[in-house]
Amino acid sequence: EKGTFPFYMLKEISEQPAVMRRLVSRYVDDAGTPQFDSAMLSALAAADRLYIVAAGTSYHAGLVGQNLFEHLAGVPTEAYLASEFGYHQPLLSAKPMFIFLTQSGETADIRQVLVNVKQAGYPSLTLTNVITSTLAREADYAVELGAGPEIAVASTKAYTAQVAVEALLAKALGQHKALPLAAAFDVAHQLSLAATGQQALIDQQDKLHELATEMFAQTRNAFFIGRGTDYYVSLEAALKLKEISYVQAEGFAAGELKHGTIALIEQDTPVVAFITDPITAARTRSNAEEVEARGAKVLRIASAALAEPGDQLIVDDLDPMLTPLLTIIPGQLLAYFTSLDRGYDVDRPRNLAKSVTVE
Ligand code: F6R
Repeated sequence: EKGTFPFYMLKEISEQPAVMRRLVSRYVDDAGTPQFDSAMLSALAAADRLYIVAAGTSYHAGLVGQNLFEHLAGVPTEAYLASEFGYHQPLLSAKPMFIFLTQSGETADIRQVLVNVKQAGYPSLTLTNVITSTLAREADYAVELGAGPEIAVASTKAYTAQVAVEALLAKALGQHKALPLAAAFDVAHQLSLAATGQQALIDQQDKLHELATEMFAQTRNAFFIGRGTDYYVSLEAALKLKEISYVQAEGFAAGELKHGTIALIEQDTPVVAFITDPITAARTRSNAEEVEARGAKVLRIASAALAEPGDQLIVDDLDPMLTPLLTIIPGQLLAYFTSLDRGYDVDRPRNLAKSVTVE
């Protein structure tokens, strides 16, 4: 089933452009409007606040979703870790709606929240890759991520599918509420640009292998930095590296470095900087220079419009809310090649299970 791929993870990374295109043809109509169950959209439109509840990689996709729902659908949205929310519930708004974001649909930490939410009578929606799963059945509504089966333990195409479905849903909700910003956001075009841009990065995998060797072959730790959505993708890129290559990696909001973390920078400490957010690009660049001045080995990944000489990897331009669809590809491939170089079983990292059904 892996075909010519040595590991499922590489196969699943390579499938992402096709997943983006499939999601567009599945959910978007000829007028460019994503189609979802209208009772579900009415329930979402009635909410004064969206609570995205998730774990791990799915939580990182939820963080990216915050901007999409706030900007396109005009509703305050926050992502929460299920394992925290379950025991220390924040003060809820008057009309909350819950979105459970989960590849497997079986994560116990989320189920625990769902049970409480249902008991309290709040509406819920599960976005999942497995439409027959427990969390899909138990929520009021369910939407399929459509990434296709994900076998490698490290989640890749489910993450990008989650971000894409959040964009589709945020646009549909915004249009349901007749918001001009949503009408103007051409989600089908953005996702098709994302597919093309992802393919361009996948086609550079030999270069990414070289960069992985150069950056991570010798190291015990690594840092990923960015601001805004670039921060959220830093968290996910760091998780990928941690879980399959066992390098201690941390994602940081670039502006927070100087408030403590910069003390960890030594000669040759690897730092990957994501620069796709026009509002903060210059600031992130100066943070990258600060660590470079202290000896760090810096890899700059920038979007085309913001690129400068010396940036080692350029990703295509995309709406800044959606750039994780592109920047996570080098994040995934750097982790993959680091694991490969170190001779690990990429698909089955130690101590981890594909779905986590205990709290
Ligand atoms: C990381 C990874 C995990 C899952 C997490 C949630 O690559 O796969 O962090 O994202 O266990 O799982 P789901 O999405 O199935 O609820």
